[in-house]
Amino acid sequence: MKKIMLTGFRPTGKLHLGHLHGNIKNMIKYQDDYENYFFLVDWHALSTEYQNPKDIKSNLIECVVDLIALGIDPDKTNIYRQSDIIEIAELFLYLSMITPLSWLERCPTYKEQIKQMKSRDLSTLGFLSYPVLMAADILIVNADIVPVGEDQLPHLEMTREIARRFNNLYGKYFKEPAELLSEATRVVGIDGRKMSKSYNNAIFLSDDEMTIKKKIRQMITDPERIHPTDPGHPEVCNVFSFYKIYDRENIQEIEARCKKGFIGCTACKDQLWPLIFKSLEEFQEKRRQLLRNIDYIYEILEKGKKTVRTVARAEINEVRKKMGID
Ligand code: TRP
Ligand code: SF4
Repeated sequence: MKKIMLTGFRPTGKLHLGHLHGNIKNMIKYQDDYENYFFLVDWHALSTEYQNPKDIKSNLIECVVDLIALGIDPDKTNIYRQSDIIEIAELFLYLSMITPLSWLERCPTYKEQIKQMKSRDLSTLGFLSYPVLMAADILIVNADIVPVGEDQLPHLEMTREIARRFNNLYGKYFKEPAELLSEATRVVGIDGRKMSKSYNNAIFLSDDEMTIKKKIRQMITDPERIHPTDPGHPEVCNVFSFYKIYDRENIQEIEARCKKGFIGCTACKDQLWPLIFKSLEEFQEKRRQLLRNIDYIYEILEKGKKTVRTVARAEINEVRKKMGID
C-alpha cells in the first residue's frame, strides 16, 4: 500500500512562484509514489478574509486550474475543496478540545501575521485556531508526508503535538506526519519579503512577459551597490536568489560577475526575467485551454469530494469511538 501525501493551498488568488517552488514541485515530482491529497483551504482563507470573502470561490477555481495546468494529474491525485469535507470541521472540533491555548498563543506564525496584516482584525477565535484546523486537514486522512514551505513548519510541528496528545489520551491512533521541504523553501517577493499575495509582492504564474519584466526590474538588489561597477554581494540580493532557481548551472559565473562588478543590476535583471517567462510558457497555454472548459474543473472537485468524504467519514467514526462519543 502506498503512503499518503497531502498538502493544502490557500486560495487567496492565482498561484505565484512562491507556491510553485514551495511545494507544488514536490507534489508533482512524487505524484506516482504516494496516494495523493491536494486541496484548497477556503476555510483557512476565511480566517483572514472574513470581512470580505467574495473572491474566495473564484480564486479557488483559478487555483485548481493552475494546479492542473502545472501537471497535478486528477487521475492520480484527489483534488478537493476543504469546505466540501465537513468531516474536517468535525475533527477540528474534537482536536480543539485537547489543544492547549498556550500552544496557539506562542505560535510564531500567529504573532508574525498579526503584525504584518495590520489592515485586518485578526483577534478572532478562528484565526487563533488556524493551526488546529490545519491539523484536522492532515489527520483526517492520516497523512504520512506533507510538502510545505519553511514558514509552515511550526504548524506541522503542532500537528504532531496534537496527534501525540490525542494518542496519549485515547490510545494510539494518529500517525505523526513528516514534512517534505522543497529546495527553494522561501521564495522572496519583489520587495524582499516572503512572496505572498497579501504582501502585494508576488510574481504570478499567469503574468505575461511584460509584467514579469516590470516586476523583476522593480526588485531590490544589493543596497550597497550604487554604480554598476561596484562589487556586489549576491548573498543579500533577491535577484540572485532567483538565479539559484532559474539558472543553477551557471550560478558560479553569475556570482563572480556580480562580486567583481562586471555587470550592472539592470543588465543582470534583464538576463533573468526571460528565463522565468520561458519556464512558464507551456503552463500558460494549458491554463488558457482549461479556462475554456470550466465545467471540467467543477467535475474534478465533485469527484474529489466524493472520494475524500468516504475516507474522512471512516476516520471520524474511529475518532468518535476513541473519544467515547460513538
Ligand atoms: N497553512 C497552509 C499555508 O498557508 C495551507 C494549509 C492548510 C496546509 N492546511 C494544510 C498545508 C494542510 C499543508 C497541509 O500554506
Ligand atoms: Fe543582484 Fe545581479 Fe545586482 Fe549582483 S548584479 S546585486 S546578483 S542584481
